[in-house]
Amino acid sequence: MLPYKNLIIIDKKDSLPVYRQISLQLISLIQEGKLPPGAVLPSTRTLAFDLQLHRKTIVAAYETLVSENWIDNLPRKSYTVSPDLPMFRPRSYNSKRVSPFAETATFDFDHFELVMPLSRSLNNNRLEINDGFPDISLLPVQAISRQFKKTLESSATSKRSGVNLDGGSSNFKTSLRSFLNQTRGIDMGEENLFTTRGAQMAIYIAASLIIKPGDKVVVSEPTYFIAEALFEKLGAELIRVPMDSDGMCTEKLEDILKKNVIKMLYIIPHHHHPTTVTMSVERRNHLMKLITAYNFAVIEDDYDYDFQFKYDPYLPLASGDHGGRIIYIGSLTKVLGSPFRLGYIIATADFLQAAARLRTLIDLRGDFIMEETISGMIANGDLARHIQKTNKLYSQRCDFLSDLVSSEMGDMIDFTKPTGGMALWLRVKPQYDLSKIIKKADLKGLTIKGSTYCIGKDAHFNAFRFGFASLNEQELTEAVHIIKTVTQNL
Ligand SMILES: Cc1ncc(COP(=O)(O)O)c(C=O)c1O
Repeated sequence: MLPYKNLIIIDKKDSLPVYRQISLQLISLIQEGKLPPGAVLPSTRTLAFDLQLHRKTIVAAYETLVSENWIDNLPRKSYTVSPDLPMFRPRSYNSKRVSPFAETATFDFDHFELVMPLSRSLNNNRLEINDGFPDISLLPVQAISRQFKKTLESSATSKRSGVNLDGGSSNFKTSLRSFLNQTRGIDMGEENLFTTRGAQMAIYIAASLIIKPGDKVVVSEPTYFIAEALFEKLGAELIRVPMDSDGMCTEKLEDILKKNVIKMLYIIPHHHHPTTVTMSVERRNHLMKLITAYNFAVIEDDYDYDFQFKYDPYLPLASGDHGGRIIYIGSLTKVLGSPFRLGYIIATADFLQAAARLRTLIDLRGDFIMEETISGMIANGDLARHIQKTNKLYSQRCDFLSDLVSSEMGDMIDFTKPTGGMALWLRVKPQYDLSKIIKKADLKGLTIKGSTYCIGKDAHFNAFRFGFASLNEQELTEAVHIIKTVTQNL
């Protein structure tokens, strides 16, 4: 409701009767578009209370507006702004009324540019390949709704929000900690866990606390492009270490460490983004030695750890002995779906206290109601059951797509089947220009929307992520058919 108390100003010394002052000011609000056709006016009782006037004065003002066709009085319903206004457009000096926001800003500001994958400029086709997102049609809607309702009811009845001063729900922290202990073997207390709105916010906060302009930061080549853009925005000098089928080449990293003082390493050891490679045990062990010997901070981004197709996944680096140097980041967004925004950081308590202070500048409290809801689902086992069910299906979809790409496009595309996650990394052979394939597929009804590495400095990769988790077998078949057809007819 509009703040009528501030919008309608009564001048008792004015010769115009008070009811007419009110009706004229309401007409102005209607003409300015602040009260659009159909808008409901406050009840006469409410407005009388707000303006500290007798209700009869408001009734008189409203009745005048009704008689002039500005508003309607529906029987036993509220007063609403008439859909057929007796509109005369106010005469403005520049004759055309233009929204003040239709202009461009006249002040100086940072026109922050982020180079997005080619796919962002494409159509919204029915069939879409994403970056590797869960299938939200599999969401346990009933279970979530039940918990959500329970949370809302208990928040409303207790009249206490229960929100922690350092952000988020304490119940969520407790249950998430036990979930992470069980699934990742990370030894930690509650003071070592901090919740965020997704892994992206977690990376932003952690990196902002660590990186100063000019600091040297190591990333893989290629790497998750949004993290890379963030580190550059913070003023980092990026040093890129190549990837192979065992993950980041730690031998090359060691050479770099011998010659440079490195502030931070950003690494994705499970189902690396974008290449989907899982780091080998040998490389993990080597990296752990380097972390201690050269003493630098590590952001371990484990965005889709929960989707492992083998029964003996490697534990995160953070579960090993790293002397507090690793900042572990994860996300429930990849478990539940992109509309959910829940992530977390595991780190030393002093680091997380600073993280809580920094977060306050961009988000005071997190999504408390959703955190409580998911906390309930962790406690009653619904979340674990959902992960188990979807993991099985995603593993089948991964097999299905891998077989399909091998049989249908083996001569055009190279790839290695991942051991988990939600996407394949498809390297298109150099004689086929991926950016052309993407544009032609778009016209044939398939939008390739995930990360694509085929323009600018990434042109030599000629590769893209094919998210399989959210597509059924028929959709996967259709998508591969379109890609194959356009590739053959480039
Ligand atoms: C490697 C990687 N890290 C972090 C994120 C951010 O995840 P969230 O959706 O939880 O913010 C993504 C998103 O796709 C990602 O691919």
